[in-house]
Amino acid sequence: MSGGSAAWIAAAGRPLTGRLRVPGDKSVSHRSVMLGALAEGITRITGFLEGEDTIATAAILQRLGVRIEASGEGERIVHGVGLQGLRPAEGPLDCGNAGTGMRLLAGLLAGQAFESVLVGDASLSKRPMRRVIDPLARMGARIDSEGGLPPLRIHAKSVLQGIDYECPVASAQVKSAILLAGLYASGPTTVREPHPTRDYTERMLSAFGADIDFAPGVATLRPGRALRATSVDVPADFSSAAFFLVAASVIPGSHLVLERVGVNPRRTGLLEALRLMGADLTVRPAGEQGGEPVADIEVRAARLRGAAIPEALVPDMIDEFPALFTAAALAEGTTIVSGAAELRVKESDRIAVMAAGLRALGAVIDETPDGAVITGSGFTANAASTPSESRTGRLRGGQTDSRGDHRIAMSLAIAAQCAAGEVVIDDVANVATSFPGFDALARGVGFGLRLA
Ligand code: S3P
Repeated sequence: MSGGSAAWIAAAGRPLTGRLRVPGDKSVSHRSVMLGALAEGITRITGFLEGEDTIATAAILQRLGVRIEASGEGERIVHGVGLQGLRPAEGPLDCGNAGTGMRLLAGLLAGQAFESVLVGDASLSKRPMRRVIDPLARMGARIDSEGGLPPLRIHAKSVLQGIDYECPVASAQVKSAILLAGLYASGPTTVREPHPTRDYTERMLSAFGADIDFAPGVATLRPGRALRATSVDVPADFSSAAFFLVAASVIPGSHLVLERVGVNPRRTGLLEALRLMGADLTVRPAGEQGGEPVADIEVRAARLRGAAIPEALVPDMIDEFPALFTAAALAEGTTIVSGAAELRVKESDRIAVMAAGLRALGAVIDETPDGAVITGSGFTANAASTPSESRTGRLRGGQTDSRGDHRIAMSLAIAAQCAAGEVVIDDVANVATSFPGFDALARGVGFGLRLA
């Protein structure tokens, strides 16, 4: 893991202009190597995210005996070993910063005839794992943890029981861990969710030939069928595109096109939230990629107003709240986020860390247990000017800290484009977990951003 203490210096650049394509989807990339590994035959992946999180997952599968070739940038050839073909690895398996990696692998490894130990970096070592340990234990798995936190010691257990599980949290990671364990169960496994979450595991299991039925909020997997290798063309990550959608909305004079972005409806809640705030977004469907809808998204700077973000949107925009907080801090009026307590157990406590970061730049934010009340500065009233002309509602320069959270680093970099002075953003190395090359891409379209 990069860990480290790299910092950015960010300041107002020029209006954002141009067309850009962001890297592959992190969720789909993790799942593509996992299912490719368990399949029979060779799975070819294109558009694979070359991020530290997904590279860590591929490296773990290699240590479990799977041959994975990196044939080019974003390309992987996975020589599947079949459901029973994984082999024990010596020593702990390092998931790095990746909650998705650890939780999904916990499900995948729960039904193996050998023991595995999953570890992670300092951030991942503080994230709750009972949410996967409890249902997997009901399936017969034996998993030891440190009071519900990593490392996870997963004992050998070759057959699990199917369960019918009502998830207490809306979490695609929990649902996916249970479904992957269900591949090793003696009977069917059903997962029911309090709110529908991203369905990549279900779609991909189906594409690999698993016997699965699913509808929003419920999925049933019947074990017993081998997975068949296939090809996976990973679409661009909506969560990475989101930074540019927000940045071009708030930086005066901007006009950007994000090309061929994955727009699975369980991911695109931010579009609705930004529209409620008055954003100027045009979504042009551009067919399908890897079984997922993709679209070109055009965005222009707009005068944003604060809004009460509907709680029903929370699961569909869960990773986009740091960027939304930045938009809210620059809009006119008050934005209310509620029903989003999950933000407190992400790569950092995203409510507290975003509030501290934006406050350091003069923004007005009150934390609540499950969200925040954000009083915007009105900077986006300058939508039609250029960043250097814009005077009203600027944030101020200052020192901020992403606390090693990739999405917070990028969200603060957007806020810095609307500040009167330079902003130092500490601890940004983990941007490489999900969005390697963000700073160069951002500079290319107009951001003022450099490594300190
Ligand atoms: C993910 C699910 C979400 C999301 C994470 C990726 C996935 O987490 O925040 O970045 O790939 O399944 P939760 O399941 O914890 O909500």
